[in-house]
Amino acid sequence: MTPDSFNFLAGLVKVRSGIVLTADKGYMLETRLGTMLRREGIAGLDALALRLRAPRSEALAAEMVEALTTNESSFFRDGKPFEHLKKLLPKLAAARPPGQAIRIWSAACSSGQEAYSIAITAVGLGAALAGRRVEIVGTDLSQEMLQRAREGVYTQFEVQRGLPVQMLVKHFRQEGTRWQVAPELRAMVCWQAFNLLDDPRGLGRFDVVFCRNVLIYFDAPTKSRVLAALASLVAADGVVYLGGAETVLGLTDRLVPTPGERGVYEAARPAARTG
Ligand SMILES: C[S@@+](CC[C@H](N)C(=O)[O-])C[C@H]1O[C@@H](n2cnc3c(N)ncnc32)[C@H](O)[C@@H]1O
Repeated sequence: MTPDSFNFLAGLVKVRSGIVLTADKGYMLETRLGTMLRREGIAGLDALALRLRAPRSEALAAEMVEALTTNESSFFRDGKPFEHLKKLLPKLAAARPPGQAIRIWSAACSSGQEAYSIAITAVGLGAALAGRRVEIVGTDLSQEMLQRAREGVYTQFEVQRGLPVQMLVKHFRQEGTRWQVAPELRAMVCWQAFNLLDDPRGLGRFDVVFCRNVLIYFDAPTKSRVLAALASLVAADGVVYLGGAETVLGLTDRLVPTPGERGVYEAARPAARTG
């Protein structure tokens, strides 16, 4: 692939998703786009760049971006955020007016393990939530991942990663070699396509936001923008969870770390903000 083609393709991916492809990622384009190129009968990455420069290439561009997302996920990934959530939810339930659901956003939900881990945590709290409804919204850029999340069907390998066996037996139904999330958990989550580069206000306000292991793919200005948007829609007593390799430091002063908790952030009180 010529440097010109690489720059064009990487630019398109950045504009459409925020994902930054550095110059050493040429191999990644080759490996991840191979299937798509064969299916579309496109001879190679230079030919793809040519096709995408032409008008009416919208669907192909979307397909390329999807193929370049990294969708790695697992149940109860990193453990800690879910332990924190277990302590937080009863407090939020007690603080909300009667009848108001607790709303939780799994932004960049991939194949759904994060959203279902949230649902399992909420159900496990039982009476501690005093009958409070928990509404989970799972969003991602990838239609393919959203479809997987919606179906809630996982392989033995996937359920073995992070899901204690009692939870598996309680919340999943075995179907041959696969496991499907039980209908009552699936009913707690609604799935929707959403690009984190877009204005999230249409999704409504949230008590809790999980935005984990996606900011790592963005550059600093994009991270800042996304974090500021998250801060604007999370409740004053709610939190934003980020991935272990992610931080708000140097990116926004609208979110501040919760003291003593790794990866947990809360909206800064207006007086604490400097700009
Ligand atoms: C590594 S997965 C993280 C999944 C989950 N949050 C976790 O921590 O296990 C990253 C996800 O971010 C999604 N993604 C990448 N760029 C995005 C964007 N601009 N808007 C929404 N989702 C995006 C990808 O499709 C992918 O499913």
